[in-house]
Amino acid sequence: MEKILVMDFGGQYNQLIARRVREQHVYAEIKPYDHLTPDLIRAEGYRGIIFTGGPNSVYDPASPRCDKAVLELGIPILGICYGAQLLAHLAGGTVTSAEHSSEYGKTTLYVSRHPLFKDIPAESICWMSHTDYISLAPPGFTTEAHTQKCPCAAMCDDARGLYGVQFHPEVTHTAYGTQLLRNFLFGICACSPEWHMDDYAAQLISKYKQELQGKKVLLALSGGVDSSVAALLLHKAAGQDLTCVFVDHGLLRKGEGDLVEQTFKRDFGLNLIRVNAGERFLRKLSGVTAPETKRKIIGEEFIRVFEEEAKKLGHIHVLAQGTIYPDVIESGKGDSAVIKSHHNVGGLPDVIAFDEIVEPLRDLFKDEVRTVGTILGLPEELVWRQPFPGPGLAVRILGEVTEEKVRTLQDADAVFREVIAEAKLSKVPDQYFAVLTDSRSVGVMGDARTYGCTVALRAVSTDDFMTAEWSRLPYEVLEKASGRITNEVADVSRVVYDISSKPPATVEWE
Ligand code: XMP
Repeated sequence: MEKILVMDFGGQYNQLIARRVREQHVYAEIKPYDHLTPDLIRAEGYRGIIFTGGPNSVYDPASPRCDKAVLELGIPILGICYGAQLLAHLAGGTVTSAEHSSEYGKTTLYVSRHPLFKDIPAESICWMSHTDYISLAPPGFTTEAHTQKCPCAAMCDDARGLYGVQFHPEVTHTAYGTQLLRNFLFGICACSPEWHMDDYAAQLISKYKQELQGKKVLLALSGGVDSSVAALLLHKAAGQDLTCVFVDHGLLRKGEGDLVEQTFKRDFGLNLIRVNAGERFLRKLSGVTAPETKRKIIGEEFIRVFEEEAKKLGHIHVLAQGTIYPDVIESGKGDSAVIKSHHNVGGLPDVIAFDEIVEPLRDLFKDEVRTVGTILGLPEELVWRQPFPGPGLAVRILGEVTEEKVRTLQDADAVFREVIAEAKLSKVPDQYFAVLTDSRSVGVMGDARTYGCTVALRAVSTDDFMTAEWSRLPYEVLEKASGRITNEVADVSRVVYDISSKPPATVEWE
C-alpha cells in the first residue's frame, strides 16, 4: 500500500495534515520525529514525507530534528512551516529569527509556475503563522514563492525532491492548500488515489485481532457515535472477548436505550450488558437543583455503576475507549476555565484495574468516524446521531429531575425531532432538542384555565460546538412543533423558541 509519512515535530495541525492526505485517497500515518531513523523510514517504503510545523525555532538547542540523512533517502519531502525551516537549516540555508515581526493570519502569496504550484494562481491567499523565516534558500534550492514579509515562502530542489513551504496548506484558510498537497502527492510523489476508509477499517480490525488475542476487553458503550463505532470495530477484532457495558441512566431520549440494546445485542450479536440504573440515578438526584451538582452526581454515579459491573467480570486486560482526535486536542488544552464539568468515560481508568488502554479511533476526526461506522454497517440513525450530553436529559430539565419531568421532556423532544424530520429541511440544524424549563404559566384549554409547564425548543448550527448560532427554523416548522407539543404532551401549555447563540449562551441550558 502506498503511504505518506507525516513526521511530527509538534505542530498543532499534524492530524489535519494526515487527514488532508487521506481525503485525497492516499494513506498517511503520523510518527513522532524521534521514533524514526533513516533505515526505518527506508524499510517502510514511504512514497513521500511531510515534515510538520512545530513551535520551536531551529536555533533552539532543544528543537526537534531528524537525521540529516533523511534528506538523502531519495524520498520526496515537503516541509511545512517549522518543517520547511528545518529542511532549510539541515540543507545549509539560512533561517532568521524575526522576533518582533511575526507573520500571522491570512496573507497574500505570490507563486511561480513551478509544478508544486500547478493550477494555483500567481496570487492567492495563504495562512501564515511564524516568527522565524527562511532568509536564504540552501544550495540546490530555488525560491518559488514569497509574501510581503517573507522572502522565501516556498523553496524547491527538484533534483533531490525536497520542498518547503512557510505557509500552512492544510488549513482551509489557504485557498489553494489542497491543490498544493495534490501537486505534491500526485505530481511529485507519483501516488495514486487508491486508498479508502474501508481499507483503514480493515487494517484496524486486523491490527486489533492480533493485539487483543486472548485478552478480555471492556468498553463503556453510550450509544453515541464514537463509542458505537469503537464497539463494532473491536467486536470484529475480539468477538466475544469484548464486553460492552451500557449504563442506562434513564435520562436518554425516548426509546434510545432500547435502540442501543436492539442494535448491538440483537442485530450485531455483541456481548452487551445493559444496566437499567434509572431509579438509582433519580434517587441520587432527588432534591438537587444546581446544574453543576447534577452533572457531578451523574458523572460519579455513572463511574460507580460501571465499576460494579466491571468487578463482576473479573480481571480486565484491556479498557477500550471511543476517544477521537478532537477529544485528544481538547483534553490537551489544560487549564482553561471549567464552564461545565463534562461527563464522559475519562474517569474510568482511575477506578478499574486493567493492563492497557486501547483507543482505536484516536487518530480520526468525527466525519471519518462516521464513515467507518457506515462501513461497519452501523444504522444511519446512530451514525448521524446528534451529540448528546453525558448527563443526558438532566441538563435539559431545569431544577430538580423527577421521573415525571423526564417523561414529559422525552415526549416533547420526540415530537420536535419528528417534526424536524418530516420538514425535510435543506439544512438540518447540527443539534436540536427540547428543554423543560422550570416555569409554569397560565393557559386556557377548552374553557378551562391551565397552569402548565413551558417547553423551550433549541436548534443550533455550528462547525465545532465551541461557538454556535441559533437556527432560523421556518415559522411553519415551529408552529407545527408548538401545536403538536401542547396538544400531545400532557401538562405542557406553552412552547418558546430559544434565539440565543453561543457565546454568550451555551448550547445546553445547564
Ligand atoms: P455546551 O452546552 O457546552 O455544549 O455549549 C457544547 C456541546 O457539548 C455537548 N455537551 C456535552 N457532551 N458531555 C458530553 O459528552 C457533557 O457533559 C456535555 N455537556 C454538553 C452539548 O450537547 C453540545 O453538543
